[in-house]
Amino acid sequence: LSILVLHGPNLNLLGQREPEIYGSLTLDDINRLLVEEGRLLSADIFAVQSNHEGTLVDAVHDAFLRHQGIIINAGAYTHTSVALRDAIAGVNLPTVEVHLSNIYRREEFRHHSYIAPVAIGQISGFGAESYILGLQALVYHLRKS
Ligand code: DQA
Repeated sequence: LSILVLHGPNLNLLGQREPEIYGSLTLDDINRLLVEEGRLLSADIFAVQSNHEGTLVDAVHDAFLRHQGIIINAGAYTHTSVALRDAIAGVNLPTVEVHLSNIYRREEFRHHSYIAPVAIGQISGFGAESYILGLQALVYHLRKS
């Protein structure tokens, strides 16, 4: 199995960015944990981070022939991007939405996700573990289908 992990805007700042909300691990730390978990699950992990909406849309398109599923933390684009949602709907690859923080415990504007209706499911609030749980959920989904 080959899985694309997409990290959206500002996630390159993890480790220094509001650590009380997002934790102290860096994005590289999280990617390393994902590769390790992927090894246990026999899944290859390809991670991409971008602060640009169009680059994330392109990455979703490119995933179509290369990967069997997507894990996405779209960051703030979760709450704004119809384009990213349409890209995911367009390629029709099983997608799991993840968030480090519990977006429903935070400001009202974070309570709505444009990604959720085109995702298999969402994992929110477990810090870096959200990605690991998301990877496990996606792999289970792909193996049973
Ligand atoms: C986030 C939550 C978003 O609301 C925020 O804009 C982020 C990170 C999270 O992982 O908790 O950038 O997606």
